[in-house]
Amino acid sequence: MTTADVSDRSLAQLISLKGRRAVVTGGGRGLGKAIAARLAEAGADLLIGDLDEEPAVSAAKELAERHGVRAIGAAMDVTDAAAVAAAADRAVAELGGLEIWVNNAGIFPAVPLLEMTEETWDQVFAVNARGVFVGAREAARRMSAAGPDGGRGGVIVNIVSTAGFRGSAPGLAAYVGSKHAARGLTRELALELAPMGIRVLGVAPSFVPTEGNLAMAAAAGVNLADLPPTDLMLNSPIGRVGTPDDIARVALFCASDLSAFMTGSTLLADGGDTA
Ligand SMILES: NC(=O)c1ccc[n+]([C@@H]2O[C@H](COP(=O)([O-])OP(=O)(O)OC[C@H]3O[C@@H](n4cnc5c(N)ncnc54)[C@H](O)[C@@H]3O)[C@@H](O)[C@H]2O)c1
Repeated sequence: MTTADVSDRSLAQLISLKGRRAVVTGGGRGLGKAIAARLAEAGADLLIGDLDEEPAVSAAKELAERHGVRAIGAAMDVTDAAAVAAAADRAVAELGGLEIWVNNAGIFPAVPLLEMTEETWDQVFAVNARGVFVGAREAARRMSAAGPDGGRGGVIVNIVSTAGFRGSAPGLAAYVGSKHAARGLTRELALELAPMGIRVLGVAPSFVPTEGNLAMAAAAGVNLADLPPTDLMLNSPIGRVGTPDDIARVALFCASDLSAFMTGSTLLADGGDTA
């Protein structure tokens, strides 16, 4: 059980995910790929799901070769509950169970409020908020059903954002609303799933250059690579831009027994930006 007292275990035992099975949504690139890499390094077998199948399959192949874990890459749209359930079933059938689920898939279109359509709003919420609910539900159904003693529990990690704590930039009303929803869900699901031995934690990154937000900036005519780091870091006291691995290490902490006494929190991984 991941919620048991683990005080007598060594650090190496606490951080090890050997024998655990994880699903990472949106894991074909960006933060999800970096998270999948740290989970695999810690020994977890993985299913990497992504809207885009090819990067998920190649990320899985790369991690299986590098870390000697079993890894599956699969097409999965988190707005399609049947597809999420199918991916969860595949993880259980092919990896033998499910103990870790990372709700990472997210979108962040920038549209000024006066021009934002209901369709854009709904799509952002379908991925960033309803996708977290559906992922958590499908994960919890399988975590609580696993094992001869009625379940060995598990951990759900939601990739939120500093936009779940405060307003962000103009154009991100749907994104900020959806990330506040994801943070709220993290608290509520923690309460509801604790009796099943399932912990729920959030990780809230500040700006990290990834394929997704570089493309978004480029679409808005901004080449982030040309901006001085100070512009990118806004108020960050740490004074450097975050990397995907900065976020992945916090996600690994959440997924591992190092955080066994934590549930319901969303951890800021933001270089102090929100301090
Ligand atoms: N990069 C940042 O600065 C930053 C900051 C705070 C929070 N986040 C959050 O981190 C998460 C990952 O962001 P990223 O920067 O790596 O983005 P990214 O666009 O680089 O990668 C996101 C991945 O999710 C996949 N995806 C998109 N919609 C999907 C869907 N419906 N179903 C399944 N997969 C889908 C994409 O194909 C892509 O592979 C998001 O939830 C985002 O909101 C990112």
